[in-house]
Amino acid sequence: MQILASVRFLLILSSLCCFIIIPSLCSELPNTRCIESEKNSLLEFKTSLKDPHNLLSSWEGSDCCNWKGVTCNNETNHVVSLNLGYWHLFNGLSTAWRIGGELNPSLLALNELNHLDLSSNDFGGIAVPEFIGSLKKLSYLNLSNAGFGGRIPHQLGNLSSLRYLDLNSFYSSHDLYVDSLDWLSWLSSLQYLDMNSVNFVNVGDWFVSINLIPSLSVLKLPHCKLKEFPLSFSFRNFAPLTYLDLSNNEFHSSLPNWLFNLSSLQYLNLQFNQFQGSMPDEFSRMNSLEVIQLGNNELVGSIPRTISFLCKLRIFDLSSNNITGDTASLAEISVGCAGNSLEVLNLRNNNLTGNLSDWLVNFKRLDTLDLGHNSLNGFIPASIGKLSALKYLMLTANGFNGTLPESIGQLSELILLDLSFNSLNGVVSDVHFANLLKLEQLSLASTSLAVRMSSSWTPPFQLTIISLRLCRLGPEFPSWLRMQKDYSVMDLSSAGIEDVAPNWIWNLSEKILLLDLSHNLISGNLPATLEFASISILDLSNNKFEGSLPTFSSSMEYLDLSNNMLTGSILPFFRFPLPILSHLFLSNNLLSGTIPSSICQDAELCHRFLKQSAVRRTSNMLG
Ligand SMILES: *[C@@H]1O[C@H](CO)[C@@H](O)[C@H](O)[C@H]1NC(C)=O
Ligand SMILES: *[C@@H]1O[C@H](CO)[C@@H](O)[C@H](O)[C@H]1NC(C)=O
Ligand SMILES: *[C@@H]1O[C@H](CO)[C@@H](O)[C@H](O)[C@H]1NC(C)=O
Ligand SMILES: *[C@@H]1O[C@H](CO)[C@@H](O)[C@H](O)[C@H]1NC(C)=O
Ligand SMILES: *[C@@H]1O[C@H](CO)[C@@H](O)[C@H](O)[C@H]1NC(C)=O
Ligand SMILES: *[C@@H]1O[C@H](CO)[C@@H](O)[C@H](O)[C@H]1NC(C)=O
Ligand SMILES: *[C@@H]1O[C@H](CO)[C@@H](O)[C@H](O)[C@H]1NC(C)=O
Ligand SMILES: *[C@@H]1O[C@H](CO)[C@@H](O)[C@H](O)[C@H]1NC(C)=O
Ligand SMILES: *[C@@H]1O[C@H](CO)[C@@H](O)[C@H](O)[C@H]1NC(C)=O
Repeated sequence: MQILASVRFLLILSSLCCFIIIPSLCSELPNTRCIESEKNSLLEFKTSLKDPHNLLSSWEGSDCCNWKGVTCNNETNHVVSLNLGYWHLFNGLSTAWRIGGELNPSLLALNELNHLDLSSNDFGGIAVPEFIGSLKKLSYLNLSNAGFGGRIPHQLGNLSSLRYLDLNSFYSSHDLYVDSLDWLSWLSSLQYLDMNSVNFVNVGDWFVSINLIPSLSVLKLPHCKLKEFPLSFSFRNFAPLTYLDLSNNEFHSSLPNWLFNLSSLQYLNLQFNQFQGSMPDEFSRMNSLEVIQLGNNELVGSIPRTISFLCKLRIFDLSSNNITGDTASLAEISVGCAGNSLEVLNLRNNNLTGNLSDWLVNFKRLDTLDLGHNSLNGFIPASIGKLSALKYLMLTANGFNGTLPESIGQLSELILLDLSFNSLNGVVSDVHFANLLKLEQLSLASTSLAVRMSSSWTPPFQLTIISLRLCRLGPEFPSWLRMQKDYSVMDLSSAGIEDVAPNWIWNLSEKILLLDLSHNLISGNLPATLEFASISILDLSNNKFEGSLPTFSSSMEYLDLSNNMLTGSILPFFRFPLPILSHLFLSNNLLSGTIPSSICQDAELCHRFLKQSAVRRTSNMLG
């Protein structure tokens, strides 16, 4: 009793000291935990690894439970988890620091191991070791993008406790393949399977084996070269499936009927295949769906109205198919349940007809609306201004006509507005942009809109892409653009500008890639140099620019100054190397000088230059 009491006292004391007396002692208490044989197995495992940046430097001393990436059970002291995923060990960017080498079977001494993560390392194409299949207690195995190659061993089928298996090799430079899938069907506890980019070419019956995994909930098989999709199939086990990604494969059939029995499915991604036929009404049976990705297939017919019954649908992507029919089905969906939940509606690049109308505002939560490249017409309804969550609005390349409603200026979350290639007309003024505080990309190209901002207007946004080609901007040079300091692309070509170029226009932003002012009547001198600007494409052709040629930076790839009134010598232009210049147009100016012979070291450039230039030949010009 005496002894027991003092033991109890000691225990109380030690737990007290944890909280009050000597906290530093407490952090050292687990020091004694690590099991000697397991420590030795880990040390042996480490000697086979290549660890160029010493990420496992903490693997020394007796307390293996405190080593980086190692977790022990706090009651049995067995090592239960080995997390050597690169991003866990090291949060930086240098991929040269990844772990590689060999996987030593000494790991088998860790017979309570249930979590093994070697993801995002670089094992240089070695095979997944067969012995992993003998780590009986594993419930989590993550070998994703770790540089394994070759055949996936059937031994993995022995892991009867496995719940998560991640063999994703999308970012790996080594090819993993399967030659049979029988082993998969033995994984009776498996809930999560990711085999992104594993080659399935040699298995015809992939579906049969996967269908035998009783508790599978998440299935990711994109980029697996899958071809066959059984159309009539009595599936038994797919009932709990919540996530199905079969995108980027080679399916070439209609959508199979069994799909619609997946009533628990929340995420469905079949994009980038060649699915044919129509999208049947049965979609509504999958009433847990939150995401439907069917883009880039060959689907026809109209959008099934029964989509409106999908009350959780957030993302609906049918882009780049051959969907026809008019917008009446959208109107119907908007008043249904899905109208309240949809955030992304992408119907780009189909054959939809009809117009937009006030039903649009029923999609209250819409943040992305892409109806580009269809055959829609009519005017853009003023009610569009009520879509207050809208961030991306793309109505590109349709037959919309009429004026742009001022209410568009109320879309304060808008980041991208693309109305290009429509028959819109009328005037766009500051009111249309009043509250577009977050706008970054603006394209009104190839509309007949007249953009007329008041001269005192300060835009509330900083644009990165400004595309106003074939709008009516002129005759004055639009002064509101002076405030735009962040753009990488500005296209004001064929915009009816008839003015002297303001000096600030040459004050190019650091991010500039493209500036196109061509086909206007812009006059004035070019600046002496644009060497400071990392511009790649500059088109000032077909204007009335005067003065001499500027010098340019070595980033220039495409330069067109033709059809202006530039004078003086071309020599300064060639004084600095333009190593990646591939297109140069200087014709129809009043330039003089000799083209240096070095220019013709690049035969193609020389050819173009001689063909395109009508430089006045004052002396021995080449050719
Ligand atoms: C062991 O650790 C787990 C999680 O870290 C914790 O929930 C549990 O209470 C601990 N058990 C004991 C006996 O300390
Ligand atoms: C596997 O590891 C990768 C990279 O660390 C991670 O993104 C992925 O979610 C993990 N897989 C599972 C099933 O946890
Ligand atoms: C493990 O899998 C292999 C190959 O599938 C099999 O031959 C072997 O009997 C299995 N071992 C155990 C212990 O289940
Ligand atoms: C879908 O489920 C119904 C019963 O819920 C069943 O009658 C039908 O055969 C199943 N369809 C397919 C293709 O498995
Ligand atoms: C799209 O459908 C129309 C009419 O159904 C058809 O004429 C056309 O060939 C189809 N286009 C493609 C690319 O499948
Ligand atoms: C739209 O239909 C026309 C003919 O009806 C077809 O030529 C065109 O390819 C279709 N467009 C798309 C995107 O499928
Ligand atoms: C849409 O079309 C209908 C019927 O042709 C017409 O009454 C309506 O005014 C049009 N609405 C818009 C916004 O173009
Ligand atoms: C717009 O186009 C429709 C047909 O697509 C036409 O009936 C209508 O007159 C046009 N409206 C304007 C303002 O051009
Ligand atoms: C060019 O930009 C700089 C920095 O933004 C500014 O200080 C300068 O006034 C600008 N020059 C012209 C001519 O606008």
